[in-house]
Amino acid sequence: MKIFAANWKLFKSPRETRQFFLEFKEKSQSLRDELVFFPPATSWEAAAESLGESKIFWGAQNIWTDPQGAFTGENSAQVLKDLGGRYVLVGHSERRKLFGETNALLAKKVQTVSKLGLTPMLCIGETLEEREKKATNAVNEKQLREGLSLIAAGGPLVVAYEPVWAIGTGRVATPEQAQEAHLYIKKILKDLGFADTKVLYGGSVKPDNAGILLSQPSIDGFLVGGASLEVKSFLEICQAKH
Ligand code: PGA
Repeated sequence: MKIFAANWKLFKSPRETRQFFLEFKEKSQSLRDELVFFPPATSWEAAAESLGESKIFWGAQNIWTDPQGAFTGENSAQVLKDLGGRYVLVGHSERRKLFGETNALLAKKVQTVSKLGLTPMLCIGETLEEREKKATNAVNEKQLREGLSLIAAGGPLVVAYEPVWAIGTGRVATPEQAQEAHLYIKKILKDLGFADTKVLYGGSVKPDNAGILLSQPSIDGFLVGGASLEVKSFLEICQAKH
């Protein structure tokens, strides 16, 4: 089974969220893979209400390490859990770059999510400069080892490999580049005791490149940004041959 995840970033109001799911739930009934949506926090409740008892999961794009307290502007993993959310994105490259999130902080977030019985989706990936310096594997390995350092091996986890240079740029990794990175990531995960962890690819996934990427043996699904905002394009990605 693959996982198709939608990262909506700072898009979609509660009303737009409800509208999207009204159409998507109807049209996705024949899909058998796992589907996960990450709406902005202001639309969590709309997602929870729209998805109800459906088999479609949803989660947070980011949470704070503590479930409550004096943390102005942050989001609570406990509230997410109470509303029925199941996943949390941790360490998306936009969080790392724009908000200065370090591996040490992300390890704590992964720990918080795991402790609550939710599934962390840890995002990793190299910048263009790092790729050009042939540091791709080293960067991924460090982000994995440090990001997973506070949780017990074997627990629920999904990893999303998102090369920073491919996010929102229209510049997708070639199937070979993605496969090579995924293979190395799986090797490290096995070493850390997470042998069965699914590794998703993210970065400019579109309906026209989904099939070729999914044909790679180590790509277990996608984390999709831009192309997940429209029902049609996200459905086409989920339905790409695999
Ligand atoms: P993109 O974003 O599909 O728009 O490149 C992916 C992501 O940021 O998760």
